Amino acid sequence: MAPDQLVAVIDGISADVDAAFDRLLAVPDDARARLYLAMRHAAMGGGKRLRPLLVRATAQLFNIDVSQSLQAGLAVECIHVYSLIHDDLPCMDDDDMRRGKPTVHKAFDEATAVLAGDSLHAIAFELLADGHVLPDPFVRAELSHALAHASGPAGMAGGQMMDLEAETTTFDLGTVTRLQQLKTGALISYCVEAGAILGRIAPEGRTGLRGYARDVGLAFQIADDLIDVEGDAATAGKAVGKDAAQGKATFVSLLGVERARAQAHALVEQAHAHLHGFGAEADLLRAIARFAVERKR
Ligand code: IPE
Ligand code: IPE
Ligand code: MG
Ligand code: MG
Ligand code: MG
Repeated sequence: MAPDQLVAVIDGISADVDAAFDRLLAVPDDARARLYLAMRHAAMGGGKRLRPLLVRATAQLFNIDVSQSLQAGLAVECIHVYSLIHDDLPCMDDDDMRRGKPTVHKAFDEATAVLAGDSLHAIAFELLADGHVLPDPFVRAELSHALAHASGPAGMAGGQMMDLEAETTTFDLGTVTRLQQLKTGALISYCVEAGAILGRIAPEGRTGLRGYARDVGLAFQIADDLIDVEGDAATAGKAVGKDAAQGKATFVSLLGVERARAQAHALVEQAHAHLHGFGAEADLLRAIARFAVERKR
């Protein structure tokens, strides 16, 4: 798939995600308006939408209707946006800019940012429990269980804890790999898993896709760490140079820029190899893997 074709696909899903959030987060005419405005500020008009794209790209291997893959994609995007709102808080990374806009606690206030994150966390599971869009109760239960696992202490939140510890402890490469797999990889793996769950693929049939997702997740976070070192804030839409300033152990701090980049590219090759059982129908997944490391934002 040519890069401009991928750009068109990304633009398409971004429009779908924004339109869905616009409906989902309609501002009520009461004292909760500020909470909805804060969620809209964080969730709409920005972000690469890589996670909903991964759900759609995997689900389409199994000819799943886009309304179903969008529902699961929105759920994981809600968790992702909540994690970003909380990640930016003064008690965590203390960042002022996100997706080219002020962070939620800057545009609103800290208490509102905490509640906006909490609310998006809840909305994610409300979406997965919606029997109108996802009629199979087994699919709803498996999607919910997998997202809960990927978001909590065995996934994103656990990785965020390790990430905070990485400011004061010296972690080796194995520990940093585990940290990244939890903080970023778990939600990315969920996206691919969600596609397989929607396709009602038995766990034995998911091995290649799981290998792909693990490699893409790690490559994606190495690219994030490279952007922090080499990128510029205007393109990235967020401050750079923060990891070194906070003394954070990352792939780049441990391996150096060149070896980290080589590692990311090797992971893309490995991700492609995991898709050997698929033909042209997996070209979008292959293009996403390349995009995950070649991106500048
Ligand atoms: C940023 O994620 C935080 C990480 C988990 C690395 P993204 O790079 O996907 O951020 P958006 O959604 O495009 O803003
Ligand atoms: C954030 O990682 C990961 C999650 C929010 C789970 P980072 O702290 O590296 O993300 P950025 O660089 O602020 O986007
Ligand atoms: Mg962080
Ligand atoms: Mg951060
Ligand atoms: Mg980062």
